[in-house]
Amino acid sequence: MACAHGLIQRESVFTIDASSISFGEGAAAEAGPLLAARGAKRIGLYTDARVAKLRPVEIVKASLTRANLDVVVYDACRVEPKDGSVLDAIRFAKEARLDGYVSVGGGSSIDTCKLAALYAHYPADLLAYVNAPVGEGRRVPGPLPPHVACPTTSGTGSECTGIAVFDLVEKNVKTAVASRALRPIAALVDPTFTESLPAEVVAASGFDVLCHALESFTARRFTAREAPLTPDVRPMSQGQNPWSDLGSMEALRLAGKYFVRAVRDASDKEARHGLSWAATLAGVAFGNAGVHLPHAMSYAVAGLSKTYQCAGYPSEAPFVPHGISVVVGAPSVFRATAACSPERHMEAAIALGAETRGGSPTEAGEILSDRLIALMRATNVPLGLEALGFARSATDALVVGTLLQKRLVDNAPLAVDEATMRRLFEGSFAYGEVP
Ligand SMILES: [Fe+2]
Repeated sequence: MACAHGLIQRESVFTIDASSISFGEGAAAEAGPLLAARGAKRIGLYTDARVAKLRPVEIVKASLTRANLDVVVYDACRVEPKDGSVLDAIRFAKEARLDGYVSVGGGSSIDTCKLAALYAHYPADLLAYVNAPVGEGRRVPGPLPPHVACPTTSGTGSECTGIAVFDLVEKNVKTAVASRALRPIAALVDPTFTESLPAEVVAASGFDVLCHALESFTARRFTAREAPLTPDVRPMSQGQNPWSDLGSMEALRLAGKYFVRAVRDASDKEARHGLSWAATLAGVAFGNAGVHLPHAMSYAVAGLSKTYQCAGYPSEAPFVPHGISVVVGAPSVFRATAACSPERHMEAAIALGAETRGGSPTEAGEILSDRLIALMRATNVPLGLEALGFARSATDALVVGTLLQKRLVDNAPLAVDEATMRRLFEGSFAYGEVP
């Protein structure tokens, strides 16, 4: 497989879109003053039915009330949002005439809130701002009302990015809107919120963290892209760069130290808080570098899965948690991408705690993949697509669904065609024992 190269006018600049992040116990109580300072008066609090009853929502609501803001609660955000649930959230935002937003929950609630704010403020058909070729890829016309994001899981990093993902049911595929305008004005990360999460949620969201960091660290270099005609159209997925490398590497080091501990022991606050910080750093990194193939594949996996149900998550309908749908393809992908940057793959494996067995750079892909598989075993997540209920006959549909994710596929260090994608999926069905 050839590494991507050969563009005409190469990029020479990278942009740091730094999120405003407040991290620490009590951070979420800053939502009210932040939104009041922006002149907002009527705030939509977006969350899901389960989180709506928990301490984080109570804290944020109290903060908004103390700041003399009107609060209307939308507690119907769907875990893994679908077009129907997004449309409902948009309808609510329009009817409530909101001029500020706060999201409290996992990435699903944060993403739903981003989309509600976008389409309530700049009404359009749902596919208008969705990335091409699935949607029209129209540019967001201008700034949005202020949105403060308060994550309750440590994984998605959505609080730091301008990306919102949802499931487009008619096409059996997940898709996204990506625009700097969607980035929350502040991420308020209280790591104590993660102390009560079920082990399965920590495992799934933790693999999302790992993959954000690994994919940002191994994406094509920003200099491999074509230079934009004007700076405002430089993509957020600009490729690995010196800024994203800092966040990616520290996130990997923290995940190597804390991930398994955080899954296995809810009382291990050091591990859960450490993973929360890793998630924040990885979010900053991928918000600037972009992710690539494991995420591209995950959108097809999640869109096509019909039967898998994961303990620890709401059980009304089967779905694959995002981090699981991402990590099932990751060992297969990194085996293939290692040839493009063996040293980076080796460095990542070592940060994650791999025994390098005195291996040479040519073994970096195997070593990193084996480490990921060992972590999957240690945290009890499904070891490949078969364990999610996929038959090998689903490969064609998985390949088609993945190649639709052009924004992510183009950010891979490899030149990817249908045959490459097929091989990556064929390597993802079942992972065996590792040395
Ligand atoms: Fe993700």
